[in-house]
Amino acid sequence: MSQERGSRPQPVHVTVTGAAGQVGYALVFRIASGQLLGSDQPIVLRMLDIEPALGALEGVAMELQDCAFPLLQDLVVTADANEGFDNASWALLVGAMPRKEGMERGDLLAANGGIFGPQGQAIAARAASDVRVLVVGNPCNTNALIASANAPDLPRDRWFAMTRLDENRAKYQLAHKAGVPVAEVTNLAIWGNHSATQYPDAQNAKIGGKPAPVVIDDDAWLRDDFIPTVQKRGAAIIAARKLSSAGSAANAIVDSVNSIHLGTPAGDWTSLAVASNGEYGIPEGLFFSFPVQCQDGSWSVVEGITHNAEGQRRIKATTDELLHERELVKDLLP
Ligand code: NAD
Ligand code: LMR
Repeated sequence: MSQERGSRPQPVHVTVTGAAGQVGYALVFRIASGQLLGSDQPIVLRMLDIEPALGALEGVAMELQDCAFPLLQDLVVTADANEGFDNASWALLVGAMPRKEGMERGDLLAANGGIFGPQGQAIAARAASDVRVLVVGNPCNTNALIASANAPDLPRDRWFAMTRLDENRAKYQLAHKAGVPVAEVTNLAIWGNHSATQYPDAQNAKIGGKPAPVVIDDDAWLRDDFIPTVQKRGAAIIAARKLSSAGSAANAIVDSVNSIHLGTPAGDWTSLAVASNGEYGIPEGLFFSFPVQCQDGSWSVVEGITHNAEGQRRIKATTDELLHERELVKDLLP
């Protein structure tokens, strides 16, 4: 962003869809306070929701005004996707129905899939030339596939679906078991779908710089406790709260954008679902969560990671699920 000496940078437009919802409410104040793009980056916050939610969204806008955030240069409240994505450099696609107790995220495809084609088209038509898109609304991997397929002229490396919440959950579980601060857990990747088939990979993770399986020294716990706990954490929160995660989801959105924007620490990586280019044998085009390294605004999938037989089996299961989801939405893919 160009900046004259002593002047402030130009504002960056950030769009949040579903901004009247619970993840949106936990997110927009963090964006406006500077936690998304930095404490010297002015923001124009564009909040998009459906018509019936506009009254509530006006209330959120009033609260944002009442925070007197120095970085919040302007606010847009709209139900019009073209206006919502106008000039956006970041599009955070949260707006979608959440699942209820007893559902899998894939059960939302019928209700939510239709939202993402038109939004992909509006992003292609109206967003800034540097736009990057993070899909959060579930099932987020396949919704990202739908949205990006409807914006074929936008480079595929601008599209992400969120698995950072799973990574953060996995890091907490490992740190808690090892009795160390969570910052000691690094190189933790989620592979595959943001669903109960995901593979949280402790085998290649590190704790205090040492292999996590050596530090944990309990293979049965890693297999029978750690993996299912991470896979089913979203459902456990719904069972407890009667609502799906919101604060931790908003936090993971901030973490994801921070990683893409500011980079990942040297030697470490983060989890992002991106369009496969065939890495690790994953079929081309599927939005699959990989270990990703980010630097200077660009990113790449980490190569050369190996998996034991169990890891390979789990990666195949989550790939098969994504292929099945792709088949279910083929009518939404131009
Ligand atoms: P919510 O019901 O509280 O809010 C959803 C909001 O989206 C509502 O305000 C609704 O009016 C709006 N919306 C619906 N259709 C829309 C459209 N076409 N355009 C714009 N807005 C629209 O739900 P929530 O708890 O905020 O969750 C939102 C989504 O995020 C859900 O699909 C949920 O499953 C998902 N989620 C994903 C993760 C993740 O890790 N990937 C984490 C948490 C939640
Ligand atoms: C989560 O992981 O908490 C979200 O995807 C919400 C859900 O449905 O589990």
